[in-house]
Amino acid sequence: MNGNDNAFGIRGFLVDAPEFGGLRGSRNGAIIVENGRILAVGDYDNLRRLPQPHPVNWIDRGAVAIFPGLIDCHTHLPQYSAVARGESELLPWLRQNIFPVERDFTGPKAREEAPQFFHALAQNGTTTAMVYAAIYEDSCEIGFEAAKESGLRVILGKMMMDVGSYGQLQPKKVLSVSLLESERLCRKWHRSEDGRLEYAFSPRFAVTCSEKMMRSAAELAARFEAYLQTHLAENREEIEKVHHLFMSARDYTHVYETCGMLTPRTVLGHCIHLNPREIAAIAAAQSSVAHCPSSNLFLGSGLIKLDQLLKAGIAVGLGSDVAAGPELNMWQVMRAAIEVQKARSAYEPNLRPIRASEAFYLGTQGGARALGKAKIIGTLDAGKEADFVVVDLAALLPYQKDRHSLNALSPEDVLALCIYRGGPHSTLETYVRGRCVYRAERIA
Ligand code: GUN
Ligand code: ZN
Repeated sequence: MNGNDNAFGIRGFLVDAPEFGGLRGSRNGAIIVENGRILAVGDYDNLRRLPQPHPVNWIDRGAVAIFPGLIDCHTHLPQYSAVARGESELLPWLRQNIFPVERDFTGPKAREEAPQFFHALAQNGTTTAMVYAAIYEDSCEIGFEAAKESGLRVILGKMMMDVGSYGQLQPKKVLSVSLLESERLCRKWHRSEDGRLEYAFSPRFAVTCSEKMMRSAAELAARFEAYLQTHLAENREEIEKVHHLFMSARDYTHVYETCGMLTPRTVLGHCIHLNPREIAAIAAAQSSVAHCPSSNLFLGSGLIKLDQLLKAGIAVGLGSDVAAGPELNMWQVMRAAIEVQKARSAYEPNLRPIRASEAFYLGTQGGARALGKAKIIGTLDAGKEADFVVVDLAALLPYQKDRHSLNALSPEDVLALCIYRGGPHSTLETYVRGRCVYRAERIA
């Protein structure tokens, strides 16, 4: 693995969530990293005392928390410049605000923005992201080059659409060119950099894809053992449209089932307005859901029935869904996930809203499970690859005079500070496979 060959240890308040609702914390904790993996985790004083197989360089950054790297299961590279734009719902918002910026995401513009996009992810503490490029081959190629440089763990795919696309190709050619380019990108990038970069075939959604395109995308994903990502049941008007386009389908999910798109390597964005049959079908296929609460609030798409998806056993991760979500900051996405369930519970008396620890699970180990990586990343367990984020706790306090109180915080307090006040300003360092991919200027 191309990690850091020298063993190093880092001290801090360790917090992770191996299960939904299960929070672990270790106030004077530490992890030792060797060859890109977590070699040992535990109490700092114990780890310092124990003999280690190799000399350990110790890093002590004071009052910091160390979390597993945050996992963004759904976001759009070409859309970042258009965040916080528009006041309409999904379909007009796509037409008016999104297709125009995606149309321009090629050549020099893509080369300028892509490295900054991945830098922003790392600055937000995100270590793994599943991302859509624009429809152009170069947008995805440039995206992969920038992802490679960034050191982040990235699953990326070229956006596929052959109905109402913003591209310039003759309609007859769109399908074959899109398939050819997607396959070429997959052959080049899938599992490159020792598996750090992976490919996702990315048919946008049933509104902009022919049945042939969706079937072919699913076949390619199966052939290359690559991911498949799309959007499902985000908005009422979208669902109506799909109903008219695919009259013989029982419901929206059935369209994807018919095309062979529901697989264990499929990640379905949104999934807000699903009926019980659809939830059962997704669970049976072992497909995953990327829940994008900040996006759902921005576009007024609706409030996901998270309890029903989890009860069905579906793996759910979180997504920033930039640019419908206004930021890449996954702490804010966790906060929105809590607030969406609080809003639901105001109208559903028997519904318990989710806790901070549960939202944090969805943004870490839950996301890892949704991407089929629960054994590799998502918690701070020995043996896992060393993806983690170091957060400056003092940067989260209203008053610096209260710094001394940091010693008395519980794991729940630390987590709440991050979820309600965390962001790029509080990220000190971000590591992927033991390599530092972001360091704040104040300690650089
Ligand atoms: N559905 C189809 N495309 C998109 C997109 O780019 N963003 C969101 N939020 N939903 C979509
Ligand atoms: Zn999306």
